[in-house]
Amino acid sequence: MSTIPYLKLEKNEPILMVDEKPFVILGGELHNSSGSDLEYLDTVVWPSLRKLGGNCYLTPVYWECLEPEKNKFDFTLVDGVIKQARREQVHLVLLWFGLWKNGSSSYVPHWMKQDLQYFYMKGQDGKLMESVSPFCEAAIEEDKKAYEKLMEHLRDTDTEHTVIMMQVENEVGVWGHPRDCCEQAEQVFSSTVPEEMMEFAKEDEVRGTTWEEVFGINACEYFMAWSFAKAVGKIAEAGKKVYSIPTFMNCVPNGMGVSDLAGSCPSGGPVPRVHKIWKKEAPAIDLYGPDIYIPMFKRISTPFALEGAFVLPETGGGNDVVAKALYSMAAYNTICYSPFGIEALMNPISENDLLAQTNQETGSWFPNLGEELAKVYRVLGLYWQILKEARRDGRVAAFIREGEFGEEFHLGSYTISVYYDDTPPLPGIQVRIPKRKESAPLGGGFILQENEDTFLLCGVSANIIIEPEYGSKDQVFFLDKREIKLTETGLTDGRIFNGDERNYLVLGSELTIQRVRFYHREK
Ligand code: DGJ
Repeated sequence: MSTIPYLKLEKNEPILMVDEKPFVILGGELHNSSGSDLEYLDTVVWPSLRKLGGNCYLTPVYWECLEPEKNKFDFTLVDGVIKQARREQVHLVLLWFGLWKNGSSSYVPHWMKQDLQYFYMKGQDGKLMESVSPFCEAAIEEDKKAYEKLMEHLRDTDTEHTVIMMQVENEVGVWGHPRDCCEQAEQVFSSTVPEEMMEFAKEDEVRGTTWEEVFGINACEYFMAWSFAKAVGKIAEAGKKVYSIPTFMNCVPNGMGVSDLAGSCPSGGPVPRVHKIWKKEAPAIDLYGPDIYIPMFKRISTPFALEGAFVLPETGGGNDVVAKALYSMAAYNTICYSPFGIEALMNPISENDLLAQTNQETGSWFPNLGEELAKVYRVLGLYWQILKEARRDGRVAAFIREGEFGEEFHLGSYTISVYYDDTPPLPGIQVRIPKRKESAPLGGGFILQENEDTFLLCGVSANIIIEPEYGSKDQVFFLDKREIKLTETGLTDGRIFNGDERNYLVLGSELTIQRVRFYHREK
């Protein structure tokens, strides 16, 4: 019998083990409401996902459906989606939509919504937010109980390990206000900071004992991070005790990456600057990942990836969806790549559908992006472990366009220039590259150094120059350049690009893969 999914350290990096084999999630997250109707999943969602060919999908478990009446649990939806996923031969990550979903308590059961003992947060204006306060112990106990029941149920019924990870809550934080100002929160905020938090204070800035006096400008955010982390930590720990599959949390990362101050994203959510607090108060959470819907992908993702593993539970499915997938897998120790609203990417939803009006970032108006992502997943399925090794050895260059003209890399004895504009200044050669269509995907991909003089190029919308390292006296020439085709059975050699096609390394609007080899001559 196989063991349950777990995280294992490999060369100091956590990797996800499923049935005792390393696993990477190449999938997507379903729209919020798709998992609430098994027939809809069956008739609309799976037919669309089949075309993508991912290996794992992220889908919510709704507390309001799991415990419609207090202490009465209904696993119909959970069992149903697991059964369907098994039929589709894919794994699932379940998202626990419990007390908090995007900072609100919209998924708590109706009985809780209408019971005043489960008190809500208040803003600075004294108005209620539609969100249970993390100081409401009674509510946390109820969430904990429900999540525990869910985990017990998975432990007892999911013996095939269809579910491989849990996301605990969703985009936690105070939205629109620096902190919770309900009476209970006020009382704690004006009291002495608990001893366990003092290690995060800067000694020379401490002016007293209350949160404001100890943490100054960071007081509200630290206060909320502490209170949410304690609450979510309790819930996650209860679940881990009964069934210890890996857990993670998603978050709204700070603004455009330009502001590092509290207030640039939901306050207290697990963004990198407060991970130290989250890690201390919620040790049952294994990983943290950003939901990235804005440009500046590198800037937002890098601080998360630097912690050892990169989990991307949500990202926009627009024209950067291919670049981000290739980049994530070549640049980081990525465990999960998952565009949001994935069913719509493969199967553009009708304009009349509410989804078309609410979740525009799914990019469903770029009709062939889904097919391109399907190709990328097949290539990454073959290459992700090779890329992981190459990254550790410094043999891969990952690139993604973030507005710049180009990027430069150094691999072995070669300099590699990646240009995103239409006409790169190729030395000595007048090149005319056809103008890319406006809807062309964002440039991105990787260059893998397979051996000293051989490179595999994979990506979209970029022009590449590979030449000897600056200052080198080496005489280096093209040995050959080969088209690599993605076929039913994997990657196979295609045309030999010589003559006119030899000089330009151009990655087009569709996924392009080429292998180039060089040779040296002394005279
Ligand atoms: C982020 C949330 O975490 C998702 O559940 C979903 O609401 C997306 N935003 C859609 O924009």
